[in-house]
Amino acid sequence: MLKLQDLEVSFPVRAGLFSKRRCIRAVRQVSLSIPRGQIVGLVGESGCGKSTLARAVIGMQKPTSGQVLFEGEDLYALPPAQFKTARQGMQMVFQDPFSALNPRFEVGRTIAEPMQIRGGYSKTEMEERAVELLLKVGLNESDKNRHPSDFSGGQRQRIGIARAIALNPQLLVLDEPVSALDVSVHAQIMNLLMDLHEELGLTYLFISHNLADVKDISHQVGVMYLGSLMERGQTASVFEQPLHPYTRSLLAAVLSLDDQRPPVITKGDIPSPIEVPLGCPFASRCPQTKPRCLQEQPQLLEWQPGHFAACHFPLVN
Ligand SMILES: Nc1ncnc2c1ncn2[C@@H]1O[C@H](COP(=O)(O)OP(=O)(O)OP(=O)(O)O)[C@@H](O)[C@H]1O
Ligand SMILES: [Mg+2]
Repeated sequence: MLKLQDLEVSFPVRAGLFSKRRCIRAVRQVSLSIPRGQIVGLVGESGCGKSTLARAVIGMQKPTSGQVLFEGEDLYALPPAQFKTARQGMQMVFQDPFSALNPRFEVGRTIAEPMQIRGGYSKTEMEERAVELLLKVGLNESDKNRHPSDFSGGQRQRIGIARAIALNPQLLVLDEPVSALDVSVHAQIMNLLMDLHEELGLTYLFISHNLADVKDISHQVGVMYLGSLMERGQTASVFEQPLHPYTRSLLAAVLSLDDQRPPVITKGDIPSPIEVPLGCPFASRCPQTKPRCLQEQPQLLEWQPGHFAACHFPLVN
């Protein structure tokens, strides 16, 4: 359904008036596919480019180079009318539902707004659909007349989800949808997302820095670091047999890895995305860096069936 091909997004930065122009390469040459009906999780530390990638996927951020193929069509090469239609097939759910909801609108109106923008619906149709959506996400009919400030964080995220599915999208891009919620509400919203995925046959790109969430929900996982995709594969393979030392260090930090291999200890800080070093982006923090890692950026290669890693010396048995 969705294919990213060598996707690159960079932002120009200028440090001073006379300094030379430099770029933040927020997303670097990312290639990734999301098959219809699947949930692909994307993990990585803060600033590694997850949200930038999400915005490029749903048509909000034109890539510097590379392609976003949605249903086989190059999204950013489509004429405006078709671009608009394609964008309606993909919706985004944000981390902070409050900033995504208009505080002055009643919730029913917020949920119906995408239908109003698309046009062709009567007032009654929109009202009925808004109620149907409220019930689907676990809210009540009477909630349609209340304002976002009357709701708790979890309820607001339910409203954000109702709005996102209003036009029956095929793909939902969920950017840290549960990261701002406390533990019990967190679990409820995760369950709601899993139920809707099943019931509506949706496809998800699920972004989170929380590995446990990604493990629970995803069929496949991608791991990003400094804009690059370091590893991808089936969730079970990536979590049980991580190939990249970076993935292993992420997992070791949160899960107890009980195999025989020595733990990976990450040293140092993440380099600035403006000064991404030559060679492997992770080389400055990797415990097994060799001279080749500093000179040559590893390609994302298939080391095991369906399991890819961008590392010269992956942790293969
Ligand atoms: N509009 C922009 N202009 C300049 N730099 C940007 C812009 N948007 C993002 N960046 C930079 O791109 C990099 C990636 O940011 P992004 O928000 O995609 O990361 P993220 O993985 O979503 O992080 P977080 O987990 O904190 O949400 C960061 O260094 C950020 O400062
Ligand atoms: Mg983000």
